[in-house]
Amino acid sequence: MEITTSTAAPAETAAASLIVFVPQTDTPTASGPAKAIDDALDGALSMLAADGELTGKRGQIVVLHSLGKISAKRVLVVGLGAPAKLDADVVRNAAASAARRARGLGTGEIAVTVAADPIGAEEVAQAVAEGVVMGLYRFDRHFSSVDDRHDVTGVTLHGDEAAALERGTEVGVILAEATNFCRDLANEPSNILTPTELAARAGQWAADCGVEIEVLEESEAAELGMGSFLGVAKGSNEPAKFIVMRYRGGKDEAPIGLIGKGITFDTGGISIKPAANMEAMKQDMSGAAAVISAIGAIARLQLPINVTAIAPATENMPGGSAIKPGDVLKAMNGKTIEVINTDAEGRLILADALAYANTLGLTPLIDVATLTGACSVALGDVATGVMTNDDSLAEEVIAAGKRGGEKLWQLPMYEEYEEQIKSNVADVKNTGGRMAGAQTAAKLLAMFVDDTPWAHLDMAGTDDASKTNGILVKGATGVPVRTLVNFVRTRAEA
Ligand code: BES
Ligand code: MN
Ligand code: ZN
Repeated sequence: MEITTSTAAPAETAAASLIVFVPQTDTPTASGPAKAIDDALDGALSMLAADGELTGKRGQIVVLHSLGKISAKRVLVVGLGAPAKLDADVVRNAAASAARRARGLGTGEIAVTVAADPIGAEEVAQAVAEGVVMGLYRFDRHFSSVDDRHDVTGVTLHGDEAAALERGTEVGVILAEATNFCRDLANEPSNILTPTELAARAGQWAADCGVEIEVLEESEAAELGMGSFLGVAKGSNEPAKFIVMRYRGGKDEAPIGLIGKGITFDTGGISIKPAANMEAMKQDMSGAAAVISAIGAIARLQLPINVTAIAPATENMPGGSAIKPGDVLKAMNGKTIEVINTDAEGRLILADALAYANTLGLTPLIDVATLTGACSVALGDVATGVMTNDDSLAEEVIAAGKRGGEKLWQLPMYEEYEEQIKSNVADVKNTGGRMAGAQTAAKLLAMFVDDTPWAHLDMAGTDDASKTNGILVKGATGVPVRTLVNFVRTRAEA
């Protein structure tokens, strides 16, 4: 599906469906692109507005047939809600829902009007492009046949300011395609997306985007002393892979480190999980998917900055060689971890990944992981948890989230939590009881970053959407790909 831009009048479009946005006001079609389309349709839009059928309420989509008055078969008039609350996120979600509705109505091209006012020509184009590409995402490769399926064959964004329109669209498409790539990885079942396959797909993506990739085998991880990562891998017949990707757009400054949890399936191991909903654990590699996707987008944007992404990948399985509760593992920085619960495996693989990131001199470090049920209990599927050893870094990450409409919320890292993970036999134990479960996990991770500024993003609640709504399509969300890219973009702009 190609996304193009045009400065021609939207009413002239040859696309089958024309999407136009309107604000929630007394006269929603009185100005902007909606006015021109209303004129071309002999006042059909303003009549609907006068009758109260078209209000511009957020979420409203009124579909009109053009009756041959313009070449588009139909016009979708999409409400943006109150002008005072209008921002890029509202536009992004409205564009996503509208594009999906247009697809539902028939196969063909879509044209979308993009008004610079009041958000700004480039930013609004980016939001529309991002919304359309994310909203049209679907994961249907495993159906043997699909009935009554409509396809969007192309999308054109119509606006006035050619350069801003093009740049915004380009950025939006890159961000959304990276998000969709992340979704594809995370939605893929674990019998297909093994650590080997994850590394292979990362390799293809790296080649497509212009990123270097190095995949460490178990033997190399062993030489580096990654006993914690390899401890988790022991129970699986699938060889573990330690994926390292490098993008060098900057000079010789230290790269930013993005580290993602890559458990391609989390059974819990010997501390096995209950059967209910265990299938969701195919997505326990969405942190890895997010950093792999993000570094690709960063390269495609050609940001003048250095970034390294690290994704330790393995299954967490029970079995004859699996680690057992009570086992003690030694990470590559020499620290020892007592395994109380083999289902707290994410922190075990991240311990070595963070220690490795430190040996590479990466700074700051941002890790992303579907780490704890406790975090999703605290923040639901609404916000990603942020834990840090550097409050200003957390603020920067939260601001980067806002830039793309991804919500993050900081949880405290009080010293008192450390008490809960003291072990009788090792430097730390891998569980801290029921209380403050997200923070005690983060406290273990903190032991492997030394003094490097670090933020930990727990996306156990936000990596999956239970229903399709706006930019979200049921299944993997691709969170926090855009937050990571926007973090790096903001740094690169500074
Ligand atoms: N991958 C899970 C966390 C998870 C749960 C993510 C539900 C998404 C949805 C993680 O490995 C895990 O099992 N965590 C345990 C830790 C506990 C044993 C200390 C948890 O949260 O229950
Ligand atoms: Mn687990
Ligand atoms: Zn897990």
